[in-house]
Amino acid sequence: IGPAWRLREATSLATSTAYTWDTLTDAVARCTACKLSATRTQGVLGVGDRNADWLIVGEAPGVEEDAQGEPFVGPAGKLLDAMLASIGLARGDNVYLTNVLKSHPPGNRDPESDEVAACRPYLLAQIELIQPKLILALGRLAAQSLLDTDDAIGSLRGRVHTFQGVPLMATYHPAYLLRKPTEKARAWEDLCLARRTMRAL
Ligand code: URA
Repeated sequence: IGPAWRLREATSLATSTAYTWDTLTDAVARCTACKLSATRTQGVLGVGDRNADWLIVGEAPGVEEDAQGEPFVGPAGKLLDAMLASIGLARGDNVYLTNVLKSHPPGNRDPESDEVAACRPYLLAQIELIQPKLILALGRLAAQSLLDTDDAIGSLRGRVHTFQGVPLMATYHPAYLLRKPTEKARAWEDLCLARRTMRAL
């Protein structure tokens, strides 16, 4: 049992013992720890290489992710795939994709803090199981909740943080980049920093 487990919040789920992939998959599928369980189609745990060096963390499943049960399958996911390809990465190949929330918030509204807290043990379990070498947080919510800060994404991006000893970088969410393509240059800088950081490990 590593530090990730000791830092878990006292949610209803936090008393459980360490997860295996099977128990984690099952727990997310059955989870009723927050109100999103009443409206989601299914829990969306994550996808990719369970031994990945790269862990990519987004915000929450959208409509298409809720329907298909896989993160980043909609338009933002297409851009994410292109962003990964630009630094020589592909979903599923040394990369694992997940979200802070495993359930789709209705109307794509912002996740609420009680929902983030209820879902946190699952993200911590994923980090514990995957043991990534580097975490890339996509967008404000992922960066703020992993780093436990209210700082703006514009000030969190562009430098290397750590999450429980693991280097963590933040960049703009691909959905934001679709709305504001002029920020793609900054996201590209972030990806290059992430690649450099990984190479230096
Ligand atoms: N946006 C996210 O943050 N995650 C997804 O899985 C899809 C869109």
